[in-house]
Amino acid sequence: MPDKKQKFYLTTPIYYTNGLPHIGHTYTTVVADVIRRYKRMRGYDVVMTTGTDEHGVNVERAAKRAGIPESEFVAKMADAWRALWDELGIPADEFVRTTDLTHVRTVQWLFKLCRENGYVYKGHYTGQYCIYDNAFVNDAKPGDNCPDCGRPLETVTEENYFFKLSSFQKPLLDFYKKNPDFIQPDTRRNEIISFVEGGLKDLSITRTTIRWGIPVPGEEPHVFYVWFDALTAYLSAVGGPEYEKRGYWPADLHLVGKDIIRFHTVYWPAFLMAAMLPVPKQVWAHGWFLMDAAKMSKSKGNVVLPRPIVNMLGMDALRYFLLRDVVFGQDGNFSYDALVTRYNSDLANGLGNLASRTAALIEKNFAGKIPKPDALKPQDEVLAKEAQNAIGEVLENFDKLSFARALETIWTVIAAADKYLTSEQPWALGNSEAEQARKATVLWTTAELLRIVTALLFPVLPDSATKVWTLLGQSDALSKFELDGLRWSQLTPGTSLGKSQTLFPRVDKTEAIERIEAMANEELNPTPGAPAPAASASAVGASAAAAAAPAVSDKIGIEDFAKVEMRVGQIKTAERIVGADKLLKLTVDIGTEIRQICAGIAQYYEPESLIGRKVAVVVNLAPRKLRGVESNGMIVAASVGPEGRPVLTGFHEEVEVGARLK
Ligand code: MSP
Repeated sequence: MPDKKQKFYLTTPIYYTNGLPHIGHTYTTVVADVIRRYKRMRGYDVVMTTGTDEHGVNVERAAKRAGIPESEFVAKMADAWRALWDELGIPADEFVRTTDLTHVRTVQWLFKLCRENGYVYKGHYTGQYCIYDNAFVNDAKPGDNCPDCGRPLETVTEENYFFKLSSFQKPLLDFYKKNPDFIQPDTRRNEIISFVEGGLKDLSITRTTIRWGIPVPGEEPHVFYVWFDALTAYLSAVGGPEYEKRGYWPADLHLVGKDIIRFHTVYWPAFLMAAMLPVPKQVWAHGWFLMDAAKMSKSKGNVVLPRPIVNMLGMDALRYFLLRDVVFGQDGNFSYDALVTRYNSDLANGLGNLASRTAALIEKNFAGKIPKPDALKPQDEVLAKEAQNAIGEVLENFDKLSFARALETIWTVIAAADKYLTSEQPWALGNSEAEQARKATVLWTTAELLRIVTALLFPVLPDSATKVWTLLGQSDALSKFELDGLRWSQLTPGTSLGKSQTLFPRVDKTEAIERIEAMANEELNPTPGAPAPAASASAVGASAAAAAAPAVSDKIGIEDFAKVEMRVGQIKTAERIVGADKLLKLTVDIGTEIRQICAGIAQYYEPESLIGRKVAVVVNLAPRKLRGVESNGMIVAASVGPEGRPVLTGFHEEVEVGARLK
């Protein structure tokens, strides 16, 4: 435990505002929240920053498409990002926007310091630039595609201010050597060291081709390069030029995805060194959550959204899955199947079952009061030892950000307790004094184990751990519990059990996945006029409410209707999809091409009966995946009766395939 609350400052990247958060972004923010909660339970005074990266040509273009000024566009997007983090229970302590005035001042101040110290000069640069990643690509030729995102590069010539990155090769290499933990995991450190050893070119840090950026004072039309701007947000969030007053800088930990490690471990420390400011202590690069081995993107139709999962299974389920299923630092594949399997096995059958079983036995046998243990048998001591040892192991793994390992240890202890209960069978013991005493020992032991597990789990499962804590009659706030004081044998006999609340109701896998996908589709392609979906932190039942949200009958203009392109299509083939009771996979001729489309009509139409049928098809929907099968369009159907039975639209006269519906 630190003497006087030691400060700990951690950050997530600040997210681009030309899109909305998906599970990849949620991952970083969840991890940051877990670390924040954990560090607070270890006695630290923690600040966690996240925010929005709002400048650059992509935003300029997105605002133009939306027909509103950039400032209005980014304000709306920043609100949406902030609101989502609030809904998910992972709000930042400091939410920084790169259009904030303090931030603008901080960027200009950092530039001034770098310039005064002789690390900035004016020059010209022509290069191949990726407007999506906001980066010049070294060694690229005109006509090349971006090596990161695969999109075409543009040739750009500009008068720029350059940063003398080349002067920092040696200082950076020395710094990495002196601070071997600065870049984590080790594989990434080696990658960066070889990159820097290969030589560093000076970096252009201002732009004249972009309008939407922070102006370089007295040098208009120069605006700052987005990465010079964005990285500085970490410092502006905790005071900017007055950072010393708040005392959180240098940051203890920057959490980033592997794609942006170079910006954080080469450019960022170099800018700070040039300005003679303290350099952050650690940058940790995690891997990506992939969908079918590809990076998620809306254009590929493979994004996974957090809200539908939370509405169906609760936020804790999502948090648990993200941390348990993939080793922090490595890539992992996201699958709804794995998510729901883990939910049912680890949360519903594991933790949830142990908690409700233990509480029910105490309720029944000891009138809801924690019993007093009697003489211990070797098996009680073995279990106690296992739980006691787990404390150290879990804390050590949390410290190393080895979340999957920490959770594995906790679940080994939960499984041991389950086995213990099954073999001790307290429910089969009678009412003699000796048997009552044995029952008391077994149930106290299980409850104590549960208390330890719950305290350790709080950073990862804050809602559910709080419920179990309350159930065990613990009145102090779990968020303030000091993990350094956690020991076996602190559960006081005689404590009355608290309120029992639903933890993790078991779900039917197929149905759960179908509901999640339906909600995700609605969020990605909202029904015009339908209210925006909202997250609910816990309820399984909430999914039905969210899915059945009624459409509001606001009028839309003809221009809105014209955005939906509907055409006559003819169904060529139809088949069922294994594991998806409600879906049919169709191929549909839409006049210009044959499309694969999934339709949720399997319970009402035999596949064979559909062949040759002409239907109305929405052809300009973004492609998406349903149960892993690509769907490229939507078949229009009436929704009839309370159960929403689909009835396909049809035509009573001859219509040409491909004809547009107007
Ligand atoms: N704005 C920059 C960061 C500036 S920080 C000074 C940026 N923004 S981003 O929105 O594109 O990405 C933010 C983070 O989300 C990155 O760390 C990126 O790695 C992470 N992820 C985006 N997709 C991801 C997955 N599919 N999986 C895990 N993380 C991923 O880059």
